[in-house]
Amino acid sequence: MVNSYFANFHLKHMNKRTQLQELRDQAQLGGGADRIASQHKKGKLTARERLHFLFDEGSFEEIGAFVMHRSKDFGMENQQFLGDGVITGYGTINGRLVYAFSQDFTVFGGSLSETHAEKICKLMDLAMKNGAPLIGLNDSGGARIQEGVVSLGGYADIFYRNTMASGVIPQISAIMGPCAGGAVYSPAITDFIMMVENTSYMFVTGPNVVKTVTHEEVSSEDLGGASVHSTKSGVAHFTAANEIDCINQLKKLISYIPENCEEKTPDFAYEATDEIRSKLADIIPENANQPYDIREVISEVIDEESFYEVHKNYAENIVVGFARLAGRSIGIVANQPAYLAGVLDIHSSQKAARFVRFCDSFNIPLLVFEDVPGFLPGTDQEWNAIITNGAKLLYAFCEATVPRITVITRKAYGGAYDVMNSKHIGADMNFAWPTAEIAVMGAKGAAEIIFKKDIDKAEDHVAALAAKEKEYADLFANPYRAAERGFVDEVIFPEETRKKLIKAFKMLENKVVNLPRKKHGNIPL
Ligand code: HXC
Repeated sequence: MVNSYFANFHLKHMNKRTQLQELRDQAQLGGGADRIASQHKKGKLTARERLHFLFDEGSFEEIGAFVMHRSKDFGMENQQFLGDGVITGYGTINGRLVYAFSQDFTVFGGSLSETHAEKICKLMDLAMKNGAPLIGLNDSGGARIQEGVVSLGGYADIFYRNTMASGVIPQISAIMGPCAGGAVYSPAITDFIMMVENTSYMFVTGPNVVKTVTHEEVSSEDLGGASVHSTKSGVAHFTAANEIDCINQLKKLISYIPENCEEKTPDFAYEATDEIRSKLADIIPENANQPYDIREVISEVIDEESFYEVHKNYAENIVVGFARLAGRSIGIVANQPAYLAGVLDIHSSQKAARFVRFCDSFNIPLLVFEDVPGFLPGTDQEWNAIITNGAKLLYAFCEATVPRITVITRKAYGGAYDVMNSKHIGADMNFAWPTAEIAVMGAKGAAEIIFKKDIDKAEDHVAALAAKEKEYADLFANPYRAAERGFVDEVIFPEETRKKLIKAFKMLENKVVNLPRKKHGNIPL
């Protein structure tokens, strides 16, 4: 049956060229000028404007601009908009192929109909077949209420494809408006979520349902805004001050990652000039219990200004992010002594594990800076399963086959020593600074346990403890016991770190590791 929309058009315009041009012009308008104005009034760009800024000038090609919904209930057959609330297509970002869909809030609030979902699925299939990243710009009132179950089916079709595409092509979600109900689960399966501050929110059930069920009064922002998800829940990996910032960050993120799991990351130009970085020698404080900011170490080691931090304000006791070393992308995982002494806990383990798995999926070598006093003790951690969650990070490192290097800057204590990319779990090269302390625990704690009887017997308990602490520290608070065993490959001066890492990553460039044949592992989720 010919859609009545096109049939009417056909009668009105006998000139085929005029007809096409008019349809194209109409598709550009989405839900119409008034709704576009209302979108702008909220401080938001339209779906088309977002794509315009995202892609290289003139490179975007739209697919399915004339698709319309098939719904006939509630008079929907008389409410037709070309494209049905989502713009789908492909183009280049800094010359590299990327697919994107952009939900158009001016058409039924960007809600997802059967056909809207079909357009996204078609794009996902193309992205998979051609091995290029997919970016979703989300701005939607959720399931198209007038369509009922076909809309829910459409979501499920997308979730399925998100899962099949996971680890094959990078998938990135930008949340630029509402994203509610089951709709949140597509972004949640993708690799990264970026939220725009103040104009986007994500939740499974909105403030009204929350009020009915739990009697809590909460605003959309406080329930699921960018700030909440980037600090408390960790759902959002990045936040952006506004939409343009969001789009610029999407382009930046894409610059670190390959097109698909078979390819290597793009190379950037670099000049081998200042490989000795003397500032590194002065970062670690004299007193081993004093904090320092691991970001200072990171920025001295990597190519200038190349660090792009992921989950910056979430689980700050571990720092993760992308950087470049001699022009090549690497993923960095670093304990942060400046926050909770860099201890590993539930959230930091989850955060780092997910990042390690992303890097490993997409051939991004891993660099670990280690200064960790151990796992965080306490009922809160134990009752919320630090055992299972800490194991996620352990599992993620064990399974990673990309080149992996660790630099122990200071503490490497207890189980955390094993977990943080130790040689034993497959790291390729482990360096330690002379300030490294590799032991079961800190000297004081160790002395209190193993010399308890001697200390109790002593007249001066404090002096006895101090003496035993020194004895233990002299023996273990250094990198040489580990180096003696080969658990550390080389003890290096801090200022040599960049030079050593560049050479070691180059040496590991063609690393091949085959994991045992299996259907898939069973990571402790
Ligand atoms: C159809 C919708 C719609 C929807 C909004 N619209 N949501 N149409 N289905 N889900 C339409 C409105 O009728 C309106 O049309 C236009 O979009 C703009 O909506 P407004 O309400 O005027 O905008 P605003 O005030 O900014 O509020 C936005 C909103 C609100 C917060 C998103 O529209 C809203 O609460 N929508 C319903 C959200 C919802 O409950 N969705 C279902 C969730 S469950 P006109 O013609 O006036 O422009 C779900 C399940 C998914 O999604 C399950 C997957 C497994």
